[in-house]
Amino acid sequence: MKISKLKLTNFRNYENLNLDFKNNLNIIYGENGSGKSNLVEAIYLLALTKSFRLTSDKQLIQKNKKNTIVEGKILKNNDYSTYKVYISNDGKKVEIDNNKINKISEYVTKVQIVLFYPRDTELVNSSPSERRRILNIEISQIFKEYMILLSNYNKILKQRNAYLKQLYLYGNASREYLDILTKKILEYGKKIYKYRLEYINNLNEYIKDVYKKIFGQGNLKIVYRSSFNKTEKELLELYRKIYSKEMANGKTLLGIHHDDFEFILDGNKLKDWGSQGQLKNAIISFKLAEINIINSILKDYPILILDDLFSELDESKIVNIFKLLNNDVQTFITTTELNKVPKKIKEKSSIFKVINGSIREKI
Ligand SMILES: Nc1ncnc2c1ncn2[C@@H]1O[C@H](COP(=O)(O)OP(=O)(O)OP(=O)(O)O)[C@@H](O)[C@H]1O
Ligand SMILES: [Mg+2]
Repeated sequence: MKISKLKLTNFRNYENLNLDFKNNLNIIYGENGSGKSNLVEAIYLLALTKSFRLTSDKQLIQKNKKNTIVEGKILKNNDYSTYKVYISNDGKKVEIDNNKINKISEYVTKVQIVLFYPRDTELVNSSPSERRRILNIEISQIFKEYMILLSNYNKILKQRNAYLKQLYLYGNASREYLDILTKKILEYGKKIYKYRLEYINNLNEYIKDVYKKIFGQGNLKIVYRSSFNKTEKELLELYRKIYSKEMANGKTLLGIHHDDFEFILDGNKLKDWGSQGQLKNAIISFKLAEINIINSILKDYPILILDDLFSELDESKIVNIFKLLNNDVQTFITTTELNKVPKKIKEKSSIFKVINGSIREKI
């Protein structure tokens, strides 16, 4: 799929912007703070209804303005559709071809985005919840059911935690009801576990090869850590064993809300052993592998965004990454240093120069 037009109104430092994009490589360059990330953030928002930065929706609205509109024309299965995200102080609305979409799970499975942005390198060292967040976004884009499962799981989890607290305070409450809630947690949790396991298995099919092609050497793999790698019967027994402990804690101690995954390079935890460059290359490989997964499942390529790709990478790695980029994948690259883009690549790209919220195209 490709985005052919982007229209921004009062989005961050863009008051009014109309852009046409090429089908393959689009390079966006400009000085720090000029609006490069804002531009790709708008594309990401259009596909996923959220920013990749951990900001609130309101911060996307231009200072002193009341609302923002991001609109884009997207080509998918030989058909163009207009996607629109509208954010005001009262909330957010999304539309496809002027039809309001109420179910977010419906919207986010339409346009797939693979994003690399500098803060992603923290993923290896960050908290498990951050890794789960990324994993959830990636799987939700592919499978409608996954997002619905997550929301059901979280609802039951809330109920179960509340009930555990109640049991602790009023010991005579029914344990049968706790069993019912536990079985629901198991039902949804097990399905989520299967999606995650399958996704990580898929990642491992590609990531080793991609990493080696960029870095030249090293065996990278991802290891999924979950307490749900057991049968439902075994898990139910486990839960029953820890009921009292859970009551004392007032929360569910076991479940896919504690899942995590780890990057292992040559048998060592990347977290403890990896250099900055290895970390960055591992994350880039993780993202490039995602492209292959999306393509193998949906038979279409996602849009690729590489925000500030070049910082901290040496020239040979940059060249290797460009070699891996597929011509069929529409790619957006932001950079402050146009001279880091190999000449041959520049020749076949659309180049946009960003100057304080306005854009000049170089042909
Ligand atoms: N809601 C907003 N209204 C107006 N301007 C905003 C808003 N949010 C952010 N900005 C401005 O956007 C600019 C940052 O843009 P952006 O993050 O896209 O920069 P960049 O070109 O990616 O820079 P860098 O090279 O440092 O990554 C800042 O100057 C900031 O003041
Ligand atoms: Mg930036």
